[in-house]
Amino acid sequence: MSALAPIRFLATDLDIMETATGRVAIIVSPDGKFDVAGRRANRLTRGAVARLVESDSFAKIGAGKTVTLAWPAGMAAEALDILVLPRQVSALEARKAGAMLGKLKGSKPLAIMAGSHRKAAEIALGAQLRAYAFTEHKTGADTDAEMSGVDVYLGKPEEAEAEFGPLSAIAEGAFFTRDLTNEPANVLTTTEFANRLDEMREIGLEVEVLDEDELAELGMRTLLSVGHGSDSPSKVVVMQWKGGTEGEAPLALVGKGVVFDTGGISLKPAAGMEDMTMDMGGAGVVAGTMKALALRKAKANVVGLVGLVENMPSARATRPGDVVKSMKGDTVEIINTDAEGRLVLCDLLWYAQERFEPAGIVDLATLTGAIIVGLGNENAGVFSNDDAFCNKFLKAAASEGEGAWRMPLGKAYDDLLKSNIADMKNVGGRAGGSITAAQFLQRFIKDDVPWIHLDIAGVASVKADTSFAPKGATGWGVAALNRLVSDVYEAE
Ligand code: BES
Ligand code: MN
Ligand code: ZN
Repeated sequence: MSALAPIRFLATDLDIMETATGRVAIIVSPDGKFDVAGRRANRLTRGAVARLVESDSFAKIGAGKTVTLAWPAGMAAEALDILVLPRQVSALEARKAGAMLGKLKGSKPLAIMAGSHRKAAEIALGAQLRAYAFTEHKTGADTDAEMSGVDVYLGKPEEAEAEFGPLSAIAEGAFFTRDLTNEPANVLTTTEFANRLDEMREIGLEVEVLDEDELAELGMRTLLSVGHGSDSPSKVVVMQWKGGTEGEAPLALVGKGVVFDTGGISLKPAAGMEDMTMDMGGAGVVAGTMKALALRKAKANVVGLVGLVENMPSARATRPGDVVKSMKGDTVEIINTDAEGRLVLCDLLWYAQERFEPAGIVDLATLTGAIIVGLGNENAGVFSNDDAFCNKFLKAAASEGEGAWRMPLGKAYDDLLKSNIADMKNVGGRAGGSITAAQFLQRFIKDDVPWIHLDIAGVASVKADTSFAPKGATGWGVAALNRLVSDVYEAE
């Protein structure tokens, strides 16, 4: 597993600025003011910091950016990173600034001279999130080394350390999500996925793994129909965190966990098919969020449910045109076996409501290519039957810097799912493909249950670096859902 860079909060020690051999970072404000650490760096470098802030180009650097002096004369450090950041800064801006430092890595611990900056814990979290590297399958010199650690020097280390506790749970959760999402499908089989979730018993989650016989007994025929062509057995994993009032209805998080999506008999084209190792991204975010909640001992009841299947073609695979009866009892004509995510989710959503009577449901799925056409890689598509619930999520996502954009639902879209021979078909045509997919899911949501569907196909794994992650799996959603829980379910 990818290890988090260890973070230490230490009492200010200006002498290490001369002796530290890794990177050393100082903070200067956009108006050119710097603290005692800045003054020490300025003295050691014979005025380089002052020359920077007095230069014409300083104004163009902008808050949140860094200027690096490599192998600065007068210091033993491999680099002096000068971070431009105001004292009055939002948590998110501080986290992003920290991520700029995390990106630079370095073979030795990074020393951040945070002085009396109030957002030191957020700076540390940003550095930790951005320093992620998935090196599991690299054996040689090509390994993009993980950052060895971050030492944050400041006036009140105990305060920052206390603040960092619940924040580090977010990083742990996001790293878990990213590892799962980056893992290839020959490693992360349905069984391996279930085993990794089962290990979360150690941090206090109740974990159940339901096998194919149990799923058949429950009537989850649409979910099972997706895995028919695979040698990997389909599984549902239920993770319960009971940190709230006993008996209080939980929030349910439901994730699509297609460990590989070939499209099935409706086979996908070869180009880019390798990306479908990330088609379990929704389940990955559910897992990472449950991990974060357990690690920070959230005072809320939350249940995570993931459907783990592999969509493969074979003589036993579901055919286009097959009709399957869902757990709810509605029948589905499977026009396209590549629209499999909704078949997994519909049974899982129904099961979640029947068993847990949740106070709200959020489902996450890499559901449609169409959402990437619409929103690119910047925003997840948000669909909901409840404005108040939806707005709470959008607010949580915005404050964590995770892009989310609401999309419409409506009867005219739902009508596109009519089938000649069954209660519905599993695709609604090219037009509004993400919306008809969401309409399909809504058919399995009871009227009075607040529900949000997040189509994360564009944000779960990306081909360019983002603010908080190198290219590959992002862990999008762990921070937003963690905040939704603290804002809504942990409020007195
Ligand atoms: N897993 C895919 C969606 C996807 C595409 C995720 C690209 C990530 C990146 C999903 O199962 C799928 O194949 N959807 C089809 C639906 C269509 C057949 C109605 C799609 O988007 O083409
Ligand atoms: Mn598919
Ligand atoms: Zn899929």
